[in-house]
Amino acid sequence: MKLSNLLIAAAIAATPMLAQAGDAAAGKAKSVTCTACHGANGKAAIPTYPNLAGQNAAYLEMALKDYRAGKRNGAQSAIMTGMAKPLSDADIANLAAYYSSL
Ligand code: HEC
Repeated sequence: MKLSNLLIAAAIAATPMLAQAGDAAAGKAKSVTCTACHGANGKAAIPTYPNLAGQNAAYLEMALKDYRAGKRNGAQSAIMTGMAKPLSDADIANLAAYYSSL
């Protein structure tokens, strides 16, 4: 096997690991609907909405999974429960990677 083929094979083998940790580029693509409220750079468009830029990925992931499961209540949580419902675990990991990278 040529070295270049070997490198490609290694890159493909490493891809699932990256996906598990969250793919920021895929998260950015998925964040289009989020920007209306959380701003184009993760800085909230509305002062009573939270900034997401620079937040820890683990916290973002936990928050999104809790909204999706209906475990976050009160305040303005109903807005986010609706936003989180259609997200897959991979979507959540990617969105968390993206916003934590800003
Ligand atoms: C219609 C406006 C709106 C949209 C669109 C929206 N959000 Fe939110 N988001 C909110 C509001 C309001 C809150 C605060 C909810 C509460 O009080 O629990 C929030 C909270 C959050 C939190 C928790 C922040 C914290 O500090 O605990 C995360 C994470 C989040 N949103 C991510 C997202 C992502 C990712 C998307 C896109 C898939 C998205 N939001 C789309 C309005 C929105």
